[in-house]
Amino acid sequence: MTATIIDGKAIAARIRADLALEVAALREKTGRVPGLATVLVGENPASQAYVSSKRKACAELGIESFGHEMPASIGQADLEALVRDLNANPAVNGILVQLPLPGGLDEEAVLSTISLEKDVDGFHPINIGRLNMKGRPPLFVPCTPLGCLTLLEDAGVHISGADAVVVGRSNIVGIPMAALLRNHDATVTVCHSRTRDLPAKVRQADIVVAAIGRPEMIRGDWLKPGAVVIDVGINRIADASKKSGSRLVGDVAFEEAREVAGAITPVPGGVGPMTIAMLLQNTVTSFKRAHGL
Ligand code: GUN
Repeated sequence: MTATIIDGKAIAARIRADLALEVAALREKTGRVPGLATVLVGENPASQAYVSSKRKACAELGIESFGHEMPASIGQADLEALVRDLNANPAVNGILVQLPLPGGLDEEAVLSTISLEKDVDGFHPINIGRLNMKGRPPLFVPCTPLGCLTLLEDAGVHISGADAVVVGRSNIVGIPMAALLRNHDATVTVCHSRTRDLPAKVRQADIVVAAIGRPEMIRGDWLKPGAVVIDVGINRIADASKKSGSRLVGDVAFEEAREVAGAITPVPGGVGPMTIAMLLQNTVTSFKRAHGL
């Protein structure tokens, strides 16, 4: 079997195009546009690149972005004061504090300061708590897991009743992903570095979400034939055949997996573009709620 490739880049482009039209219509109707505040602390190059692409995506859609770049030496109280200012600013509909924060800062305290109504990353402990409870929908769902769910839905995957394995238990991806799949009636197993016989666990799965951050760790012969594979990993590995000397790979050995899976996301061009599309979508949702629309 050769797997269907789930084209996240194309799906994200479609979502962004629809959002651009919606933003234009909202501007017409309200005389305002949605606003996203980004808070970047320190000089982590990956975080700088992520925030810059998020702001660029906002600009393309007509969403206003407010960039706040703070030194790694900022104090906890000053960072929380910045968040409170953004909470009070009516032009800001979403607040994104890029993670990880530099050492010494209390991440949970910062995330708890974000107004629930502006928590477009869905990382506020109350939103995460609600996501993990039955019948208590959060105001926002974290962007990467929401992007994965959107890819599954777009590919017509039956989630209800499916056996899903999430490999990785981070607060940003694995934990909210497992909750989201469970809320869609999948039977979910969360695997991690202490899991015994990981290949056997993965082999049970109709849906595999790989979010471990280890290049090509999940092999083709770990998969149940026909399984749907969502690869969240973005790992740079050496490749002498490339001009740059390196290339990006996921957490799944793509070439092997595509021979066994029913459908699979590529890296790059799978989950990555969806994260930003979902952030934009959450920001537009927040704007509409703020305006009673
Ligand atoms: N760091 C890695 N992914 C994310 C994300 O989706 N949002 C934020 N705020 N930080 C991140």
